[in-house]
Amino acid sequence: MDRTLARGFVADHVQKDITERHLISVEGVMRALARYFDEDVERWGLAGLFHDLDQDETHDDLEHHGRQSVEWLREAGFEDEEVMNAVLAHMHERYRTDLMSRSIVHADGVAGLLVACALVRPDKAAGMKVSSVKKKLKEKSFAPGVERDKIRDVEGSIGIPMDEFIAVSITGLQEVAPDIGLA
Ligand SMILES: [Fe+2]
Repeated sequence: MDRTLARGFVADHVQKDITERHLISVEGVMRALARYFDEDVERWGLAGLFHDLDQDETHDDLEHHGRQSVEWLREAGFEDEEVMNAVLAHMHERYRTDLMSRSIVHADGVAGLLVACALVRPDKAAGMKVSSVKKKLKEKSFAPGVERDKIRDVEGSIGIPMDEFIAVSITGLQEVAPDIGLA
C-alpha cells in the first residue's frame, strides 16, 4: 500500500482527529528511525501509521487493541506480515521480535512527548532541541500520559543512545509537521 492510500485508509478508520494526528506523528518518527537504521522507510512508516488504527473502536479493550487493526488490514488485502506484526507489537509484548516491532514501542512514546512539546512552542516543531525535550522528559507534570520509560529504555532495546534517538525523532516529526498542524 502506498503512502497516499495508507493515509486514506487511516482517515476511513479512525474517528477522532487526535488519533489521526497521533498516527501521522508516529509515522514520521518511524520513517526517520528507518533511515537511521538503513531499513525500509516506507514499510516502517506504514507500521507507525497503522499502529493505533483501531484506537477509537477498541478504546480500553487492550486485548483486542491492535488485533482489530490487523483484521481490517487483512480484509483490505494488505499482506505485509512484518508491518502487521509491528502493529500488534506496540500493544502486545510477544510480537516484539525484530527491529521494526521493537522500534514502534519507542516511537510511540517519543512521538507523544514531541507533539506535546511542539504544541507549547511558538515555532511548533521547527527548531526543536534535544536539550529542551529532555527537560520536558524530566518534568513529570508535563504530558503525564507519555510513558517515559519507552523513551529512557531505548538504547537497551534498539541500540540507539537516547539523545540520538530524540534527535532522529525530532527530524521525523518535522517531516510530517505540516500534515498535523505543527509547522
Ligand atoms: Fe500510539
